[in-house]
Amino acid sequence: MATADANPPSSDPVSETIVELRGVHKRFGDLEVLRGVDLKLRRGEATVVIGESGAGKSVILKHIVGLLRPDRGAVYFGDERIDQANERRLAKIRPRFGFLFQMGALFDSLTVGENIAFPILAHARTRPPDLDQTVARKLRMVGLDGTQPKHPAELSGGQRKRVALARAIARDPEVILYDEPTTGLDPQRADVINELIRKLQRELEVTSIVVTHDMASAYKVADRIVMLFQGRFIFDGSPDRIRECPDQRVRDFVEGRAGEDVLRSLRNIEV
Ligand SMILES: Nc1ncnc2c1ncn2[C@@H]1O[C@H](COP(=O)(O)OP(=O)(O)OP(=O)(O)O)[C@@H](O)[C@H]1O
Ligand SMILES: [Mg+2]
Repeated sequence: MATADANPPSSDPVSETIVELRGVHKRFGDLEVLRGVDLKLRRGEATVVIGESGAGKSVILKHIVGLLRPDRGAVYFGDERIDQANERRLAKIRPRFGFLFQMGALFDSLTVGENIAFPILAHARTRPPDLDQTVARKLRMVGLDGTQPKHPAELSGGQRKRVALARAIARDPEVILYDEPTTGLDPQRADVINELIRKLQRELEVTSIVVTHDMASAYKVADRIVMLFQGRFIFDGSPDRIRECPDQRVRDFVEGRAGEDVLRSLRNIEV
């Protein structure tokens, strides 16, 4: 029988797998967060991960880039096992990923231009001669060329997210991971981010994985949606299919309803 260790992902020319999680288990103390997660990201596709707060969505992204290692199971990038790579090897692989962190996480003391140059300089021996042009090009992609001298504090929340996105693509990644890219934005600004995700998907031909609570965003950017529930994926399919999915746990999430177990526990609370 095939084991998680023995079989690197096969390369199917039609839908080549670029990232794979196979049987990933992860616990923190008594809390079992991932209980055998299987996921294949196909090259060029945008996969959206949904699931309630605390389900383990950010934990999944951190496994993909090697910031966390599974207790059991395997994580592949191409045919290489990320979860067994040492820090030196990971430092080589990480530029192939662009990570838009949940909190945005720009450096407040640096200008916008310096924020975008940062990941480029961190991995270069000398300052690339075309650095300014590269920074301008990345900012142009998110519609913010010209903001180089500003500080993050001078920008709106939506603009800061776009700068963080320009920084995530600074090193021409093959895979972009977005952790809650629209959280905290009003619907119109959120839609600008959704449009940018689609645009980068088209123009850079990247593979995207987008974690979100926001179903409007999920429908807009997803080629495929997966839903995490109690440590495993309980849905994997197209946006059209999730609209018709009869599973009550999926319906409750998609329609923004409290689940029956939550309602039951609320009935027992005295106010
Ligand atoms: N490094 C860590 N140490 C201990 N517990 C952790 C760690 N990282 C995550 N957890 C726990 O694992 C669970 C899943 O966390 P995770 O951040 O992946 O949730 P999430 O699905 O991204 O939630 P949200 O939608 O609120 O961002 C949470 O209960 C969290 O407290
Ligand atoms: Mg999270």
